[in-house]
Amino acid sequence: MRTIIYTGKGGVGKTSLAAATAIASAAHGHRTLVLSTDSAHSLGDSLQVSLGHDPTKIGENLWGQEIDVLLEMERHWGEITRYLATLLQSQGVEEITAKEVVVIPGMELIAALLMLESYDREGKWDVAIVDTAPTADTLRLLSFPDAVQWYFDRFFKLEKRMMKVARPTVGKLMRTPLPSDQFFVSLEDLYLRFRRVREMLSDPDRTSVRLVLNPERMVISETQRAYTYLCLFGLPIEMLVVNRVFSEGLEGKFFEQTLEEQKGNLELIEEYFGGVPMRRSPRYPHEVLGFDRLRRLGEDVFQKDDPTRIYSRSRPVRFFSRHGKKYVQFELPFAGKEALEVYTRRDTLFVKVGWYKRTLLLPYAYAGAKVGEAHFQDGLLSVEFLPAPEVPKHAE
Ligand SMILES: Nc1ncnc2c1ncn2[C@@H]1O[C@H](COP(=O)(O)OP(=O)(O)OP(=O)(O)O)[C@@H](O)[C@H]1O
Ligand SMILES: [Mg+2]
Repeated sequence: MRTIIYTGKGGVGKTSLAAATAIASAAHGHRTLVLSTDSAHSLGDSLQVSLGHDPTKIGENLWGQEIDVLLEMERHWGEITRYLATLLQSQGVEEITAKEVVVIPGMELIAALLMLESYDREGKWDVAIVDTAPTADTLRLLSFPDAVQWYFDRFFKLEKRMMKVARPTVGKLMRTPLPSDQFFVSLEDLYLRFRRVREMLSDPDRTSVRLVLNPERMVISETQRAYTYLCLFGLPIEMLVVNRVFSEGLEGKFFEQTLEEQKGNLELIEEYFGGVPMRRSPRYPHEVLGFDRLRRLGEDVFQKDDPTRIYSRSRPVRFFSRHGKKYVQFELPFAGKEALEVYTRRDTLFVKVGWYKRTLLLPYAYAGAKVGEAHFQDGLLSVEFLPAPEVPKHAE
């Protein structure tokens, strides 16, 4: 199964593009499922059909689904949530609040990822198109499988062994409820499924992330952050869709200024995200609701192309560390042997190779690190970051 995830800042057009892609994909003969992971479900509104927690057939080769996170959690992780809820209640948290708290923000995406993992195994669909909630939550959660693995390895194995001893002894005396064996079985199962989700997400042959943005400064800034973190987590960014682009030739003072500003912003987009295949869709004089308008949007973005094609497998930016030093590696296939200029200003790295200019927002881990050497070979630019100077003992 091929999975295409649409993500981006709030309101940029993720839902519309996910729906439009799904319609185009179904028209190309792929059995397509479009699913929304945003609890403020608007996929049904966009398609103007009513969708439920289970896939609903909405057209030839086309199914839609809006995930109900509470139902999904109860179905699959009843044991885990029940334990967490009793644990919170034992600490004085009110029952209703406890039930709310165990649903962490962005849980929809986790539920969706696990669902995708089982769809992938079942092979019912050729393509799953995922409409996500606005970026901030989504990104953190895409790294969730890694975090789960970390906790599991260090904490739960130890905890489980301790529990075998604790339950018949101190468990009887404590006010805090201890987790049951079933809790650990559920957790272990969840962990294994997360590992498969991780494999699925980082394989560019199976998963593509498409970033949606508008040619506006604030949107571009948030997209830079999203781009950096997606690269950091090793997720394949396969395409950038610049939505709501005003067409040239609009007349009047208002449009003159809009077009001027848009031109500058489209250049910025090129500078920040060059190397990722880019598509554009126009700003329509109306909302994009219903099949007909969504079909039109799909045609404007993909023309007659298959929208499920893998448009790129490359990793434009990689972050890694070796021997205590951190590195950023860029693919700069078009750059030659011209003078190379590399520098940082606050949390941003600037690279200039001849006429080629790149700007990259650095992840937190690189903050304050000084640029060391830079090497350019075989179209790959590696920039080394020196470790921050050690803090003297007395200063500590
Ligand atoms: N190219 C466009 N031209 C005109 N209107 C558009 C365009 N793309 C999207 N819209 C409209 O903008 C609104 C927001 O779009 P949409 O719901 O797809 O964004 P979103 O990124 O999913 O938002 P959210 O972050 O709230 O989920 C909708 O009313 C949609 O019809
Ligand atoms: Mg949306």
